[in-house]
Formats: sequence, structure tokens, C-alpha cells
Amino acid sequence: MSRRNYLSALRAVAPAVLPSILMCDWGHLQEEVDRLRDAGAHALHLDVMDGHFVPNLSYGLTLVEAFSKMTTLPLEVHLMISNPGDYVERYFEAGAHGMTIHAEAVENPRPVLEKIRSLGAAAGLAINPPTPVEKIRHCLDVCDLVLVMSVMPGFGGQEFEPVALDKLRELRTRVGDDVLLEIDGGVNQQTVPQCAAAGAQLLVIGSGIFKHPDYQAALADLTSLAHSHRGG
Ligand code: DX5
Ligand code: ZN
Repeated sequence: MSRRNYLSALRAVAPAVLPSILMCDWGHLQEEVDRLRDAGAHALHLDVMDGHFVPNLSYGLTLVEAFSKMTTLPLEVHLMISNPGDYVERYFEAGAHGMTIHAEAVENPRPVLEKIRSLGAAAGLAINPPTPVEKIRHCLDVCDLVLVMSVMPGFGGQEFEPVALDKLRELRTRVGDDVLLEIDGGVNQQTVPQCAAAGAQLLVIGSGIFKHPDYQAALADLTSLAHSHRGG
């Protein structure tokens, strides 16, 4: 799937819930992926952590490649790693349709974002709760997506930080409709309405889906909540 098709498919279904599979049952990965597809997921959000940029390790290239063999769902790779520019080529080859790097992980995100685009993937830039929108102002023109973190990255199941909502609103004013806005961390039944109203088009959800016995019901509920509160 080309970058253009991937992005327009996401836009067509926004606001959409993207499952973060950090909290899935790792002993039954193929079943988990199939359940998410059957539940109506439009893409998978894959959390790559290096134990350096964030204080946790998750998985890397091998598993991203395994996911790409397991499913035809597009893969959005959230790179919570230092020196992401050294790895984007390999994550693209492993099957990433979109890659999101952290503004805090690089001196200048622009060349890395340009590299991601030149590979043919969607370029995303993430900011942690303490990082102001101002810090990424100069490279919004090379972003396909901005990910506003509503927790400090590293772990699932943390509490939502409302500062993310102000940043979504600020970004929407700055970028109009040119850039997809995404939120990640502590997004659940309680916080989806505010996220959607603040302009989030992609809502990354981990525990809000995986703690639920019925993924289809969870995804349907969260999606309809987002649709009924959409704003921005
Ligand atoms: C946090 C990750 C998230 C996380 C979301 O570092 O980027 O994608 O797994 O999980 P919940 O929805 O449980 O906060
Ligand atoms: Zn994530």
C-alpha cells in the first residue's frame, strides 16, 4: 500500500481507534491479530521501545516483520527509540506503512521525517506531555501525522494527562486539515470524548481494548463514542 493510499484510508475512517498491541496475549499472537482484524481494526499500532529513549524494552524489527507476515492490516510503527534515523530504512523493509519518531529523540526531526517519506512511508512526529507544540513548529510541513502523547511513553495502562488536549487544539489551528492528529496513552471510555472533541483523528488504545473480553464490542463502543464527540 502506498503512503498516499495508507493516509487516505486512515482519513476516510477518522476518528478511528488504532489498537496498540503492547498488552496483547503474546502467547497467541496470530489469534490476537485475527481477532483485532475481525473486530474491525483499520491498522495496528506497534510500540517499539529501546530501553534507552524510554525506560522499557518491548520489541523491534523481528516482530514488526512477523506482524507484516501475519496480517494485511497496515502497520503504524511508534518508534520510542534513540537515533531513529539509523533504523527507519530497516523498519520500512520490515513492513511499516507509517513510522512515528519522537521530537525528543533527535536534534532535528526534519531530515528523518524526509527520509521516512522518501522511503514511501507516512512520516509521523510525536511529542511527550512536557514538550510544547512550538518545538515542532518548524517541521510540521514534513509531517503526515503528529502524535500527541497523553502519558510519558514506556508503559501501557497509565493515567491520561489532559495537557494533550490543549496541544491537539493548538495543532489543529496551526495545521488545518493538512496533518493527521493522533493521541496515545490512557485513552479509554472516559477520555475518548475529550480527545475526539479536541480534534484527535486517530486514537491509540491499549488497555481499553485488551482488558475487554470482547474486542469487537470494545472497538465498536470506543469508535462510536469518538464519532459522536468529534470536533476540531
Ligand atoms: C505508551 C505506548 C502506548 C500504550 C497505550 O508508551 O506508546 O501505545 O501502549 O496503552 P494504554 O492505552 O493502555 O495507555
Ligand atoms: Zn504508542
